Amino acid sequence: MAGDLKFPANFLWGTATSPTQVEGHVVNEWTDYVAADGGHCRVACDHYHRYQEDVDWMALLGVNAYRMGIEWSRLQSAPFAPLNQTELARYVHLLDCLKAANITPMVVLHHFSNPPWITAAGGWLNPAALPAFVDYAAKLSAALKERVYLWNTFNEPNTYASLTYLLGGFPPFLKWRFLSYRKVIKHMAEAHAQASRAIRQNKFARAPEIGIAKNWTSFGAFQAFALWDHLLAEISHHAFNRFVLDEFLGGAQREASTFLGVNYYGRARLNHFQALVPTNNVPAERLKELGIVSDDMFERHPTGFGKLLKKFHQRYGLPIYITEHGAASSDEDFRIRDLSAHLLELHAAINHGVDVRGFFYWSLLDNFEWQFGYTKKFGLLSVDFSDQKLPRKMTRVGEFYRGICQSRETAA
Ligand code: FCB
Repeated sequence: MAGDLKFPANFLWGTATSPTQVEGHVVNEWTDYVAADGGHCRVACDHYHRYQEDVDWMALLGVNAYRMGIEWSRLQSAPFAPLNQTELARYVHLLDCLKAANITPMVVLHHFSNPPWITAAGGWLNPAALPAFVDYAAKLSAALKERVYLWNTFNEPNTYASLTYLLGGFPPFLKWRFLSYRKVIKHMAEAHAQASRAIRQNKFARAPEIGIAKNWTSFGAFQAFALWDHLLAEISHHAFNRFVLDEFLGGAQREASTFLGVNYYGRARLNHFQALVPTNNVPAERLKELGIVSDDMFERHPTGFGKLLKKFHQRYGLPIYITEHGAASSDEDFRIRDLSAHLLELHAAINHGVDVRGFFYWSLLDNFEWQFGYTKKFGLLSVDFSDQKLPRKMTRVGEFYRGICQSRETAA
């Protein structure tokens, strides 16, 4: 049982959200977006107004860390503008509520959304995004240096760049623009390095830790003989994993990061060029027939998690935070089994000497899951979106995770 495992005493047991997915009332490229289920993010979980209640829920869950985004579009109305003091004060209050509940924040600077003036200027294809982002990082870190030491510059740069410019899933919905994909990754990697230098300029209450969150999907061929699928898997691995890690962590760039954030959900196996995952519209019955275990998004692959952690440890030698892991399903037993299996792998990796310092369950709340709207249930707390009051309710997965978080007290 994962609940009986001992983790390091100072391990961060957290949960995660992102502004566009939970806050509501954001003005960015997602504001007018209508998801596959007809949902939009205009109110989402109304976390913007209800963060105090949500911190109380976190305290009840027993988490000691929270990975949260700060929405850039709220804080700067133009490049190099001073920070909006009212919006800043709201985030500061949220951070103070977290502190009062003994919850350590990790702040994400970019999580799939941009201020409208960045979008209007061509987004991350325009090199002008770099100095603007670095200015934001510099000002925000100066404002929060007493309260925040864990800084996550970019969330899943390759998910962002591929869904915007290769797969047409995120605004501006472009497809097969390989050069654009490449350019966005290069710009973000450079912005990460510069932002890291800017953040370190501050005198922090506690030495800052800075990193990106890399989403890791492993790609493979479903049928051993299908050479074409092996080839496509290799190309995907190169484009979405190797190239991205080289840009962010290769050569001199390595110094920009003090940790590596890992978002791990599972793998994608290819069958005649088709990825066998629910997000690719492969029906659940078909996956079952093929013996593929998946949640409502990806094929699950817990053993790949352990292997990945060892690989990252050997290759980069950086401390690791699991910045996201979770499963979307209405079957709570499945989610509990999935979490357990991944925590067993995590525990084994730590025992093997991998320096993992925290785990952030995705997500605190059921929320606006980008293209899919409100149909993917990831929350430790469920949210009833049919009720205007958006009531939160503890799930059984939440109870299970609470048990894990509490066990940290007895950890050796
Ligand atoms: C990750 C994203 C997060 C959420 C989860 C399910 O790729 O970072 O916002 O969508 O997947």
